Amino acid sequence: MSLHVPVLLNESLNFLITNKSGNYFDGTIGYGGHTSEILKLLNNDATLIATDKDVKAYEYCKEKFENESRLRLFNTDFTDIKRVSMIEFVNVYDGIFADLGVSSVQLDDKKLGFTYREDAPLDLRMNKSQGESAAYVVNNYQEEHLTDILKSYGELRQARRLAGKIVEARRKHKISTTFQLREIVETIVPEYKSFKTLSQVFQAFRIYVNKEIDRLKEFLEKSIESLKIGGRIVIISYHSLEDRVVKDFFKYENLSCVCPPEAPICTCNKEVRLKILTRKPIIATQEEIAANRRARSAKLRVAERI
Ligand SMILES: C[S@@+](CC[C@H](N)C(=O)[O-])C[C@H]1O[C@@H](n2cnc3c(N)ncnc32)[C@H](O)[C@@H]1O
Repeated sequence: MSLHVPVLLNESLNFLITNKSGNYFDGTIGYGGHTSEILKLLNNDATLIATDKDVKAYEYCKEKFENESRLRLFNTDFTDIKRVSMIEFVNVYDGIFADLGVSSVQLDDKKLGFTYREDAPLDLRMNKSQGESAAYVVNNYQEEHLTDILKSYGELRQARRLAGKIVEARRKHKISTTFQLREIVETIVPEYKSFKTLSQVFQAFRIYVNKEIDRLKEFLEKSIESLKIGGRIVIISYHSLEDRVVKDFFKYENLSCVCPPEAPICTCNKEVRLKILTRKPIIATQEEIAANRRARSAKLRVAERI
């Protein structure tokens, strides 16, 4: 059985591959689900550069694909796309792909603390050597800042109330584990609602400590500069914040003018860099969702460099 079942596989690959001998980039190789299938569709002279910031995913794929000479793998953030492309002498790509968020392996690994369902150190970083852990954030940030994180990244209605409860709890003892945070959340929501709230809270801190939204914006910007004309960018996202970033970015890059509406003539010289190929995001079929729960929130968006 695979460790992680790739989501919207045929849909994403049908859009991604336009030239079987081209250059491709997979920013989130994870456990190699999409990558394996991409490689099956490519010729021997194609190149696929892949990154993942999670060291375990990287090491797993290093071994899994050890005999695959078309694949170059890097344990780094996908925002490093330009640096790794330079190392591999790749100037432009035919297709750039990212399957955002966390893998099933990360969610299931009790030690990583990605889920409120397991008691583990409260960390939530995909790369433990970078940035602050979630425990550091909840124990040290000011109440207003915690409110902001919960509101912006968890879209939590009771953000202020929960931030207050966190500050109250940490005065008594340090919050070091997922279950300690869970207990605090459960003081403000009735049990029947607690799973939704817990998901929002853990999502908020995960997005914050991994700087997921900022990194995604940076990656999209660098990707567009790395695509050849006719090349495609294919992104799968799993929550509305990420999807909004992708949608707004594609929309902006498709505009021919960004002058204020009252301007008599256009002076902005805005370049249209993308054609949107998915007016509405592609979502998984009922069959796929029945077979793989992770697919239920997936949204696929595709654009082409023009
Ligand atoms: C949904 S999984 C990808 C699964 C993969 N497509 C497969 O089929 O096995 C997302 C992966 O992206 C990685 N990731 C998330 N944000 C990243 C970033 N900014 N740079 C590099 N990797 C990232 C995570 O560590 C995780 O392994």
